[in-house]
Amino acid sequence: MSTNITWHPGLTRAERESLRGQKGFTIWLTGLSASGKSTIATALEQHLLHNNISAYRLDGDNVRFGLNKDLGFSEKDRNENIRRIAEVSKLFADSSTIAITSFISPYIADRVAARELHTDIPFVEVHVDIPVSVAEQRDPKGLYKKARAGEIKDFTGISAPYEAPENPEIRVQTDKVSVEEAVKIIVDYLQEKGLVK
Ligand code: PPS
Repeated sequence: MSTNITWHPGLTRAERESLRGQKGFTIWLTGLSASGKSTIATALEQHLLHNNISAYRLDGDNVRFGLNKDLGFSEKDRNENIRRIAEVSKLFADSSTIAITSFISPYIADRVAARELHTDIPFVEVHVDIPVSVAEQRDPKGLYKKARAGEIKDFTGISAPYEAPENPEIRVQTDKVSVEEAVKIIVDYLQEKGLVK
């Protein structure tokens, strides 16, 4: 616990947004491994950047190469993983950028905490929804196969829980819609809410 620290006020988010002409907020993708989170997040980031909208993707696998390299996949480590990413995405949003996070984020309580941390900052939860059976058939990294063989413990959907969101802002069923359609669903929502032009 840090002590003897003082918060330094500076520009407000509203001032940054006004100067940069863009709102900052977080789009939080959650879903099973192989659900398509990273693919959709990448396509969404590309779409926004092509339209001169500042966005940055934070990805589960990638962040674990650096910032979160000390964390594994126990419940406690996943809690800490999501806590840190919630803080980082809030910083991006505060800088008037769109943070796009793609983490399994399997626990409802962690996602609720991430949302609550975004006081006054829009938080758009997207459930990248797919049945475990379909994710397991896809298995692009061979992880489900390893989990079934007992070579990976605590694997989400097989030997660790995934708590699906009950009321996400958006649900995309990636066994039914293409990546382009998923991006359109998200962008349409953002435009409808006045978050992007
Ligand atoms: S979490 O649950 O939010 O902390 O997970 P996340 O940081 O998104 O990391 C998920 C990626 O880690 C790989 N991987 C595992 N996933 C689930 N369970 C276990 N045990 C596991 N071990 C490694 C896997 O590549 C996940 O990537 P995605 O893109 O989701 O498939």
